[in-house]
Amino acid sequence: MSSSAVRDRGSARVRPGRRAALVSATVGTVAAGMVLALATAASAGTTLATSAAEKGRYFGTAVAANKLSDSTYVGILNREFNMVTPENEMKWDATEPSQGQFNYTSADRIVSHAQANGMRIRGHALAWHSQQPGWAQNLSGSALRSAMVNHVTQVATHYRGKIHSWDVVNEAFADGGSGARRDSNLQRTGNDWIEVAFRTARTADPGAKLCYNDYNTDGQNAKSNAVYAMVSDFKARGVPIDCVGFQSHFNSASPVPSDYQANLQRFANLGLDVQITELDIEGSGTAQATSYANVTKACLAVSRCTGISVWGIRDTDSWRASGTPLLFDGNGNKKAAYTATLDALNGGTTPPTTTPTTTPPTTAPPTTPPPGTGCAASLSLQTWTGGFVATVRVTAGSSGTNGWTATLTLPAGTAVTNAWNAQNSGTTGTVRFTNVGYNGQLTAGQSTEFGFQGAGTPPSGTPSCAAS
Ligand code: G3I
Repeated sequence: MSSSAVRDRGSARVRPGRRAALVSATVGTVAAGMVLALATAASAGTTLATSAAEKGRYFGTAVAANKLSDSTYVGILNREFNMVTPENEMKWDATEPSQGQFNYTSADRIVSHAQANGMRIRGHALAWHSQQPGWAQNLSGSALRSAMVNHVTQVATHYRGKIHSWDVVNEAFADGGSGARRDSNLQRTGNDWIEVAFRTARTADPGAKLCYNDYNTDGQNAKSNAVYAMVSDFKARGVPIDCVGFQSHFNSASPVPSDYQANLQRFANLGLDVQITELDIEGSGTAQATSYANVTKACLAVSRCTGISVWGIRDTDSWRASGTPLLFDGNGNKKAAYTATLDALNGGTTPPTTTPTTTPPTTAPPTTPPPGTGCAASLSLQTWTGGFVATVRVTAGSSGTNGWTATLTLPAGTAVTNAWNAQNSGTTGTVRFTNVGYNGQLTAGQSTEFGFQGAGTPPSGTPSCAAS
């Protein structure tokens, strides 16, 4: 994708402050209704990514590495999405086909594409009963437990600093009314395998949000109640968990539950983020479009619902293509479901409360929007001997931003080793971090976060912030 396309995905057509000026200059010469219509149109994003970003959310999709040579596929991906989930390429069978032999070729291809185009990455999935390599399927007991810990460590370390959220554990609960854990070789290593996976992932990549991800947990039922109990217990005992993913694979036998929003909210109320991670809805026409709109509105209504990912781009890319469950048809044309989703994003009103990346949270001060124009920034840190991960929250002032730069001075001997969701100029001394394509435009009071990893002593104090 060209650099101008990257800019277009995140850039403002008319920044909020300019809209206000335009409106006031025009009043008296143009009918008020026309002015309002102009202001409304100017605030509506024209792609899923820009519209979601205007609401402080991301909009993502599953991506298959072998489709990155398909120009239609890549054209839609680069235009519409700012988060990618490797559909199969980060799974255990793909990344560790022989024990101790790691292969990141396909996954790295997706990560490189995402990074080159200003998209973030959901890692999927570190520990799962399915898609295990044959050698792991044949292990049990302490040998399997050790292999799982090593796998989580190696993969999360390989991608350290590059992953927005990891599905650390996937689909660990049984379907039906039992509320029990799913029987699997991993479960038979001991009931603590899930928390061990989370603690291991936190150690390996302290900057990534760590999620539990499952299906048939989208409404309140025995399975989601069991997940809820586990997450509550983890929060109470300090097991590091930051988010719960709701896969949201829907069809006529399993429609969007009427309590979908309420279910997202009850999990968010536990003090973590919720994400819609694998959305697809079988069907067509108005019924499908309405369901997509309802899911989108539910996320926007829950302040800690931080993003939506669909499970593929075109219907023909879907794991259940015959159900035509996605937003684009096989030719790459926008479906009614696409338009309904975009409209719902543009009609949403609730800005999210963004969260500290780590558990337990460190200093994470709330950022007070500056009273005039410009922006403000705040810093939270997770530190260890010799290094740290910094999360910086940028909040727009009353005029909003088209772009922003946060500046920090690092102690002597400290260096930035990598950054995400911002572009740094320099790595030592006074370092400037500038927005990337999708997160430069903020409406008044809206926040976004970027992060960086450093070697040495962490910075202190408040970063300065300049808006453009
Ligand atoms: O790549 C091989 C190909 O070489 C071979 O000829 C062909 C023959 O079957 O298989 C191909 O691999 C398939 C792979 O998808 C890539 O297309 C596997 O058989 C197939 O099992 C695999 O299915 C994936 C499925 O997970 C496996 O559980 C789907 O693509 C993927 O969309 C799906 O994703 C899961 C999430 O990870 C977890 N939640 C549910 C979701 C949908 O099932």
